[in-house]
Amino acid sequence: MTLQILGISGSPIKNSNTDRLVKAILEASGLEYEFVKLSAKKIGPCRACKQCVEDNICKTKDDFPALAKKVKEAKAFVIGGYTPYGILDSFTKAFLERLWSMRHVRGLNRRKLAATVITGISPFNVNLTSLQVGRELLLERMVLIGQLKVEGNIPCLTCGNGTDCRMSGVPDLFGEGAVASADKCIRVEDQTKLWDKAQRVGQDIGDMVRDDKTRHRMTRKRMRNLGWLTPFLLMENFMLARRRRKNIRRVKV
Ligand SMILES: Cc1cc2nc3c(=O)[nH]c(=O)nc-3n(C[C@H](O)[C@H](O)[C@H](O)COP(=O)(O)O)c2cc1C
Repeated sequence: MTLQILGISGSPIKNSNTDRLVKAILEASGLEYEFVKLSAKKIGPCRACKQCVEDNICKTKDDFPALAKKVKEAKAFVIGGYTPYGILDSFTKAFLERLWSMRHVRGLNRRKLAATVITGISPFNVNLTSLQVGRELLLERMVLIGQLKVEGNIPCLTCGNGTDCRMSGVPDLFGEGAVASADKCIRVEDQTKLWDKAQRVGQDIGDMVRDDKTRHRMTRKRMRNLGWLTPFLLMENFMLARRRRKNIRRVKV
């Protein structure tokens, strides 16, 4: 069977909320899928060696080149990450950086359908991270079908010292004197609106992969929906171009 949709999770926690939501999207798609846990792989960051320029194949000897083959084969792709210290985790970040090897010249991931799952406690950080990951996938020219944001759990609830530790996040989140315990952990299955959205995103991806006409119609609709991002991207390009022109003038002088 050929792989149709690939799910990747950067959460190192066993059977985590992030993992389970990524898997829910894969299941809902009804497609042939594979799920990859990045913490079980050895994938470092991009070393900017540019040895992939000729053939779009990363030469770093770790688990990425094999995973890249699966990314290339799959018509759709779901990436899940979480936000330790409020920023994207390193497993997911390293993997996303390495996608550059597939990007330049041939754009091997162009038109691939994509969805993101970002888990965290602070909605601000989760939104920002989600926007950043989504933006990278758009730069890869993928078609972003959905972005899901999960309310996660602080490790202090289950580390064993969360009640008495002076650095514990438990009092901040649950109030002074709160006891750290696993029963305070939130499950993604209980975030019903989000769970339903995962089903819809999965079904949409499945429909789009199975039927080209649906794919064209829905791709156009998604692109229109992303219209609100356009002013930001244009503004960013404008500022970059202005800075570049200024730098060139400075070099001339
Ligand atoms: C070491 C560590 C630090 C964390 N720091 C933050 C943080 O500063 N802000 C935040 O929103 N979430 C933080 N989290 C929580 C995670 O973003 C997230 O809720 C959870 O760990 C991931 O859930 P999952 O693995 O069940 O998918 C932290 C988690 C860990 C393990």
